[in-house]
Order: sequence, then structure tokens, then C-alpha cells
Amino acid sequence: MTETARFFDEMAPRYDADLEVLGWDPVGLVRDWPFHVAPGATVLDAGCGTGAVLEHFSGAGRKLVGFDVSPGMIRAARRRRSIRVADLHVHAAEDEWPMPEASVDAVVALAMLEFVETLDRAFDEIQRCLTPFGRAIVSIEDVVDADGVARPSHEVRYGRFPLWRRSWDDVDLCIPPGLRVVRREKRDAYRVLELGFTCTYHVVELERVPDV
Ligand SMILES: C[S@@+](CC[C@H](N)C(=O)[O-])C[C@H]1O[C@@H](n2cnc3c(N)ncnc32)[C@H](O)[C@@H]1O
Repeated sequence: MTETARFFDEMAPRYDADLEVLGWDPVGLVRDWPFHVAPGATVLDAGCGTGAVLEHFSGAGRKLVGFDVSPGMIRAARRRRSIRVADLHVHAAEDEWPMPEASVDAVVALAMLEFVETLDRAFDEIQRCLTPFGRAIVSIEDVVDADGVARPSHEVRYGRFPLWRRSWDDVDLCIPPGLRVVRREKRDAYRVLELGFTCTYHVVELERVPDV
């Protein structure tokens, strides 16, 4: 198991409670965006954690698929009654994503890509999995806080592994031509009081451009 997986495994039992303390609200984000997912759609949550966002999309005949590198997170997601029917995998985002080409109508990847060194590969996988005109919403931690103060990379670590923060430019460079940016915003995520900054996320909605 990777160090990242071990770290999130330890966090899994208290993850939902910690979210409230941290002020990270992934369900609120997809609800308010709004990220429309049609009835009957196939939804893939990459780095699904305990499955709260999949639960938000459950019902209306949607097919739910999630993966996460942490077996503990996947176990916690499987305990959610509302997503018992979901197809949940222990899987790393660095590998080919566990979905056939053009099979997913909506991809969600929130607060996960900052743990993935190969960001360009992950965006390529989003492009590969999405159906033509399918949409993705991703959030990636920024190197600049809400007040515009640059944060040295890795000054906050989750466990002992590096957290790959990304600037707008890094993100732009990784988005392949088959994905069109529909909307992008910076959003406050959580405060690191002892270090005096507010963590900020890039939130980007993408659309799969057909025939690219
Ligand atoms: C901060 S949590 C976010 C979980 C959920 N998406 C949310 O917004 O609440 C990060 C999640 O990404 C997963 N993760 C980290 N690196 C990963 C990787 N390389 N491949 C797949 N999942 C990963 C972790 O196990 C963890 O569940």
C-alpha cells in the first residue's frame, strides 16, 4: 500500500466528521455549482473517499462508479446504504481508470488530484472515459491562498508525502485538447489557523469535445 493510501486509511473512520471541522464541503460544492447530472447517467467519482458525493447523485436510475486508492475509504463508502448498488474499486488514479472509453457521462474528482503527481495523465483519463459532451468537475488545491499569498510547496503535509499544489498555469497545461473548460472558479476550502492561510481550490468544469 502507498503512503498516501495508508494515510487516508487511517483517516477514513473519522473523515466525514473531520470535513465539518475543516470546512470542506464537497456535496455543497456540486450542489451549488450546479453540476447537472441527468437521470440514468453514469457517474464516476475518482478519489471518492467515503462516497458522500456519489450518495448525492444516487437515484433517478443513475449508475454510480467510484474508486479510491484507500481500501478504508472504499469500505466506508460501501457502508452507505444509499449507494449499495455502486460499483466501488480500490484503484490508483495514476493507473488507467477502471472504465471503458466514452462510457461515463459525468466525472467528479474533488480534493484528490493534488495527491497525484501525474496530473496530465489523470486529465487524459478523464478525456478517455467521458462520453461526447460529457462533463467533469474537478477541484485542485492551489499554491496561492484566498488573499493571494503564495504558499511554499509542501509546507503543509498530509502525513509525510508531498501534496502537489497547482497554479492555474499548471492546470491549464495539463488539460488536453479534447476537454473544453466550461467554467472555472477559485473557492476557499479550509483554514490552516496555525500557519495563517486559507487553502484555496481551483474548481474547473470541463466538457468532452467530440472527435478530438
Ligand atoms: C481529501 S480526500 C477527498 C475525498 C472526496 N473526493 C471528497 O471531496 O470528500 C482525498 C481522497 O483521494 C484519495 N486519493 C489520494 N490519492 C489518490 C490516488 N493517487 N488515486 C486514487 N485516490 C487517491 C484518498 O484516498 C482520499 O479518499
